Amino acid sequence: MDTFSAINKRASVREYQSRPIEKDLLEKLIDAGRRAPTARAVEPWEFVVIQDRETLKTLGKIATSGGFIKDALACIAIFCQDTKYYLEDGSAATENVLLAAVELGLGACWVAGDKKPYVDEVAGLLGVPAGFKLISLIPLGWPKKEIKQLKKRNLEQVIHWEKF
Ligand SMILES: Cc1cc2nc3c(=O)[nH]c(=O)nc-3n(C[C@H](O)[C@H](O)[C@H](O)COP(=O)(O)O)c2cc1C
Repeated sequence: MDTFSAINKRASVREYQSRPIEKDLLEKLIDAGRRAPTARAVEPWEFVVIQDRETLKTLGKIATSGGFIKDALACIAIFCQDTKYYLEDGSAATENVLLAAVELGLGACWVAGDKKPYVDEVAGLLGVPAGFKLISLIPLGWPKKEIKQLKKRNLEQVIHWEKF
């Protein structure tokens, strides 16, 4: 799949089949995440892959805006060291993972990390040492139904030539 097709096909997927995700596919997603651009080449990221059903259930409870994590077959939690550009770096890594998921036919969704009241509880559950920021949770699974694209603002509405 070419890059534009992956970008155009990507949509948040929140319902998943019960079919497991092979380990090598999860590794491919992390491999995509770790290749994201990173300010000052710091690479502050760490990726926690969760497949344990009980942990997924608990995550779904804790991360209130991502209740559907409980039904995911896996979830990638992206943490970054608390560097100057931790949020930009971690967000770039998150988008890489989401686009790689499209290529593999996996459904995924960006569930908020940073700024959410549950960040410490998630870090505690996953045994993350102090000094790391939760960037995102990415529940994953084979999509249960046809993926529906949300309507986006069109190009003419957002493009500005030379001046705003
Ligand atoms: C920073 C960020 C945080 C998000 N947090 C959540 C979330 O907590 N729960 C959720 O269901 N979706 C979350 N989303 C997904 C957005 O709701 C989704 O991207 C948006 O509605 C556009 O839909 P699309 O991804 O299908 O294009 C988040 C997206 C971003 C970029």
